[in-house]
Amino acid sequence: MIRKLPETLISEEQIAKRVDEIAAQISSDYEGKGEIMLLGVLKGAFIFLADISRRLTIPRSIEFIAVSNYEHGSVPSGAVRLVMDVRESIQGRHVIIVEDIIDTGQTIHYLIEMLKSRGPASIKTCALLHKTHKTDMDIDYLGFGIGDEWVVGYGLDFAEHDRTLPYIGVVKPE
Ligand code: IMP
Ligand code: MG
Repeated sequence: MIRKLPETLISEEQIAKRVDEIAAQISSDYEGKGEIMLLGVLKGAFIFLADISRRLTIPRSIEFIAVSNYEHGSVPSGAVRLVMDVRESIQGRHVIIVEDIIDTGQTIHYLIEMLKSRGPASIKTCALLHKTHKTDMDIDYLGFGIGDEWVVGYGLDFAEHDRTLPYIGVVKPE
């Protein structure tokens, strides 16, 4: 069966340009502060994290954490569950949580609260996308604000489909 590709919302070029800008901003903000820890939230942030991390000009280490909220496709289960913890201690570290997308804000709030209790030097947030209609939250480094649509590609999936599309596309209801 030949499937129609999702319609483009944000192109590869637009993403690359924004990632460059965010990496430059992070590099300048943390200049001279020692090594930062980029903490990617699996699975969705893996491509964004790979691109951001390779454009930084400051020392950085890469860690991952995995949580689950949307158990089945696009319906939030209501509870965030820790699926895999960080391997390293974050005590005294400058941590940047790297997320693919902020929707209700539940996941990022859960992570911030959990990580704060472990004594990091600082915690900031970096997300490629934010569905701005739902939460009016401050994200330290944000790629793009979007509407209330389900998006895929560049790490984001719909029930594990379309994660590796090079651009951000919109899933249209059938
Ligand atoms: P929140 O906890 O409601 O903010 O949801 C955040 C998480 O839900 C993200 O880390 C994604 O994994 C997932 N998510 C929310 N909206 C989308 C979407 O449109 N496409 C793919 N994943 C999404
Ligand atoms: Mg995610």
